[in-house]
Amino acid sequence: MKKSRETWGSNLGFILAATGSAIGLGNIWKFPYITGDYGGGAFVLVYLGCVLMIGLPLMVSELIIGRRAQKNPVKAFEKNHRAKSPWQSVGWLGMASGFLILSFYSVIAGWAMAFIFKSIKGFAGTPDQIQQQFVDLVVSPSDSIMWHTIFMVLVIAIVAGGIKGGIERWSKILMPTLFLLLLGLMFHGLFNTDGGMAALNFLFQPDFSRLTAEAVLSALGHAFFTLSLGMGAMITYGSYMKKDTGIVRDAILISFLDTFIALMAGVAIFSLVFHYGMEPGQSVGLIFKTLPVLFADTGPWVSVPFFVLLTFAALTSAISLLEVVVVYFIDEKGWSRIKTTLVAGILVYLFGILSAVASFTMPFRGSDQGFLDIFDFITTNYMLPVGGLLTCLYIGWVMKEKDIAEEFGSRGLPFQMLRLALRYLTPIGIALVLLHGLELLPFMEY
Ligand code: PFF
Repeated sequence: MKKSRETWGSNLGFILAATGSAIGLGNIWKFPYITGDYGGGAFVLVYLGCVLMIGLPLMVSELIIGRRAQKNPVKAFEKNHRAKSPWQSVGWLGMASGFLILSFYSVIAGWAMAFIFKSIKGFAGTPDQIQQQFVDLVVSPSDSIMWHTIFMVLVIAIVAGGIKGGIERWSKILMPTLFLLLLGLMFHGLFNTDGGMAALNFLFQPDFSRLTAEAVLSALGHAFFTLSLGMGAMITYGSYMKKDTGIVRDAILISFLDTFIALMAGVAIFSLVFHYGMEPGQSVGLIFKTLPVLFADTGPWVSVPFFVLLTFAALTSAISLLEVVVVYFIDEKGWSRIKTTLVAGILVYLFGILSAVASFTMPFRGSDQGFLDIFDFITTNYMLPVGGLLTCLYIGWVMKEKDIAEEFGSRGLPFQMLRLALRYLTPIGIALVLLHGLELLPFMEY
């Protein structure tokens, strides 16, 4: 007997879960460090433009495809087109992306958890000694694997609980807590340190002389990753939506909250960085190497909430990554949720060990690199943009206009604008990111 498909308990539950998927390591780990590297304000402005012009239309599209079909991404592309449609391969690509991203995402999230405990003990010693703690963690296979294991167990446990009882329930607890923690840290940065004004200036005063073509394209790529687009996560979450909620309004809210949280994290982090007279461009080490040096002064009451926040953010994103992988087998093969989650979770976990062991390397783009960096590079620069581009083309040119309009809720000017964006503007924008990822843009130097 076929059970009816689960739906979200409430629209608020959906918003929190989808926002939870969007807000993750991308917002709190990646956004501040790439903003630091690319020089601040002007980059932020371009990024905001990308969220608005590329991210938002794509988010609306994914939710429409999911809710229309009420199916997992593979079947959704087929159902909104025709039986055996080749477009279902976009769903397969999404599952593969979810699998790969989660395998290394869990390793970074594991580091965040490890740093909760390091924060409780307190950071002490010279700056070099404090920074060494992170290096030691990364190069120790047993430590990295242990934290990766703990994190994956949490992810599996939540996803096994189902939509209402697992994902929605935990998002309702974790997301408001995350917001309050970040609010506290931002106020601390703004009013308790001397770096607040400098942080605001850095983030919001654009200096266009520092903007490079490379920065523009990275902003575009990041808009993708941070909004969880291009791999069917929003198709999946959209498929559990009830028919009577406004997709456009929800997509605007999710995109806004995601952006707002990234900016809050930026203010919280850069206030500290400027207060201690550090340089903002600290690259990937910003969170795990530079901040702990500053936390040695601020004490655990700033560092513990920070790493708890980072872990919570990673957790609500990781569950959406695993959900994309498991929903296909639950829908199509009739496997039980618990069995599917366990099997898929363990496979992702085992594969993740490749990323957890820093000494496993492979020649990639001209040098020996760890699997974590390789998978991050391949998914962000190739797989998500390809998934997003195909999703755009599908909804712009393949899916019936009548079906889209029904989910959208009107055929007025906003709908016409969305159609136009999805047919031309968004695909061209994404194609640019993709070609850049492949190092094929003629006007760039590689
Ligand atoms: N949006 C998440 C972040 O910013 O960390 C990462 C992510 C989650 C990407 C889920 C894609 C996805 F489907």
